Amino acid sequence: MSIPWFSRYGRHQDPYASITMARCIIYGATGYTGRMAAEQAKLKGLDFEIAGRSKHKVSELASALEVPYHIFDTGDPDAIDSALKGSRVFLNCAGPFSRTAEPLMRACVRNRAHYLDTSAELDTYLLAEELDQEAKEAGVMLLPGCGGSVAMLGCLVAYVVSRVVDPVSVDAALHVAGPVSRGSATSALESVTGHALQRVRGQLVRIETGSASRFDFGDGRGSVECAAVTLPDLVTICKSTGVQDVKTFVNASNNVLSTDDSPSRPDGPSIQEREANPYHASVRVTGKEGITLEYDAFGKG
Ligand SMILES: NC(=O)c1ccc[n+]([C@@H]2O[C@H](COP(=O)([O-])OP(=O)(O)OC[C@H]3O[C@@H](n4cnc5c(N)ncnc54)[C@H](OP(=O)(O)O)[C@@H]3O)[C@@H](O)[C@H]2O)c1
Repeated sequence: MSIPWFSRYGRHQDPYASITMARCIIYGATGYTGRMAAEQAKLKGLDFEIAGRSKHKVSELASALEVPYHIFDTGDPDAIDSALKGSRVFLNCAGPFSRTAEPLMRACVRNRAHYLDTSAELDTYLLAEELDQEAKEAGVMLLPGCGGSVAMLGCLVAYVVSRVVDPVSVDAALHVAGPVSRGSATSALESVTGHALQRVRGQLVRIETGSASRFDFGDGRGSVECAAVTLPDLVTICKSTGVQDVKTFVNASNNVLSTDDSPSRPDGPSIQEREANPYHASVRVTGKEGITLEYDAFGKG
């Protein structure tokens, strides 16, 4: 089967060429997620450099991957600007993003580099919305949510929404079955609040503590209870589909969300743990006529 843009534009007019061939910087490259991204970039032969705040860790990884590196802290705009000079794409894997997204997004807009990250924290997405106009004027894209969970849920939602006539509401749920990485645990613990949000007629509103709904993830457990939680998909689903009523839920088994986030915690999950515990998503979309469609999918985050 031919890839659409190759047949439509020919190999040398690939509309994504300026992004795929651009020099890219991966920040937070020494973390669990950043290292995987850097290793994949190397395998794919991309033109990239790595960056981070800890010189000994970054230089060691750079020499293993044989790529250039930059050392800078997010509190040093001059050092960020100097590293970003000549880059077109910046991938931020340094979470929690409450500490890194704002200075790095602003630096990307200033230096006309596309900004991507793996955040699952709502505030990062709200910040991207706030900076949207400035980014457009600079000709760059702010794209949080390149991590597995947001990408997977977003794809499933887009699929189900496309099958419903006049979709008016989306309920999206994630099942987390296995251990999460240290950075994910820290970020999740930081994001816990006494209340959850949902989107009602386009607005983010608080909902009652303890709200829940049942979903079948197609994983053999049948219908299970999922707690209403604030996921960043409240922003992405509304933006990508135009649906104004969105609720997000999580079901966690094996006690995975009460994980230890101490620095002594070993790296992980391992490849075997990821294979054994794929993420599952379940999405329910209701149309104007009251007809509801529910689909599930799974992926290794
Ligand atoms: N949505 C998803 O599906 C998904 C999937 C995977 C990960 N994530 C998110 O990605 C983030 C990273 O997770 P992880 O497990 O890879 O974390 P990790 O292993 O703890 O690595 C974090 C990396 O970020 C750097 N870092 C942390 N705070 C920083 C700061 N204030 N300034 C500069 N650098 C900083 C660390 O540098 P040092 O080593 O110098 O401390 C390290 O390189 C988390 O927020 C997680 O939620 C999301």
